[in-house]
Amino acid sequence: MPKPARTETGTITRPDAHPTVRVWDWVVRVFHWSLVASFATAWLTAHSSEDIHHLAGYAAAALIALRLIWGIVGTHYARFSQFTRGPRAVIGYLRAIVTGSEARYIGHNPAGGAMVLTLMAIMFVTALTGWMTTTDQFWGVEWVSQAHEWSAKAILMLVFVHLAGVIVASVRHHENLIRAMLTGRKRMAEPGDVA
Ligand code: HEM
Ligand code: HEM
Repeated sequence: MPKPARTETGTITRPDAHPTVRVWDWVVRVFHWSLVASFATAWLTAHSSEDIHHLAGYAAAALIALRLIWGIVGTHYARFSQFTRGPRAVIGYLRAIVTGSEARYIGHNPAGGAMVLTLMAIMFVTALTGWMTTTDQFWGVEWVSQAHEWSAKAILMLVFVHLAGVIVASVRHHENLIRAMLTGRKRMAEPGDVA
């Protein structure tokens, strides 16, 4: 196996491997996998452990609050300004996926960016309505528990769409995006890619 070499730009390369670039900083990666763990814990304990359920829900809310700050002051690809696009761009990108002509993005693609924001917004609504059910004012109020239950179910549904998007993009662009969310690194931009 050829030895890894360090280039002038500090990029680790192997003669048989593509050069890579750092995309997801550690805050984004820790946020992502902690959010996954919080959601899974909250979901699994909804009917069994009140304490753990509440703790996991508050953890999800706190993670989102931190990510909102990081989306403003964080590194390049973590910033909302880098990956939030209007509905036109999102629809255009979804159409391009159907025709097989979508560009590869180094950061979140327009559809992925929209999904990221939607997941965080609904997760926040779920935590908020969950907390509301514990207050004197909203305890026993039907629409609040309904909103809590349905927003939690909406997250689960969207997570499947999120995973499908990750798998489709990984296959189409010949890269393992799940591994990239673990290592933070992706293949460097090539002609035609959107950096
Ligand atoms: C509760 C379940 C999940 C939630 C709420 C969730 C949420 C998110 C969020 C908010 C981001 C954006 C990260 C950021 O910019 O800070 C993201 C990205 C990502 N997630 Fe998840 N995720 C979930 C489950 C998963 C699972 C199970 C996988 C894979 C096994 C996964 C793979 C990814 C990948 C690869 C990205 C980066 C996508 C890209 O390259 O644009 N996610 N997810
Ligand atoms: C964001 C993460 C959260 C998720 C995914 C989640 C999910 C769920 C689910 C699936 C249920 C069962 C609904 C049903 O079938 O009736 C539930 C119930 C409940 N959750 Fe959460 N929850 C979260 C956060 C919270 C928080 C932060 C609190 C309060 C501190 C909370 C308090 C409750 C309570 C009191 C119930 C039972 C009463 C009811 O159904 O209204 N949850 N949650």
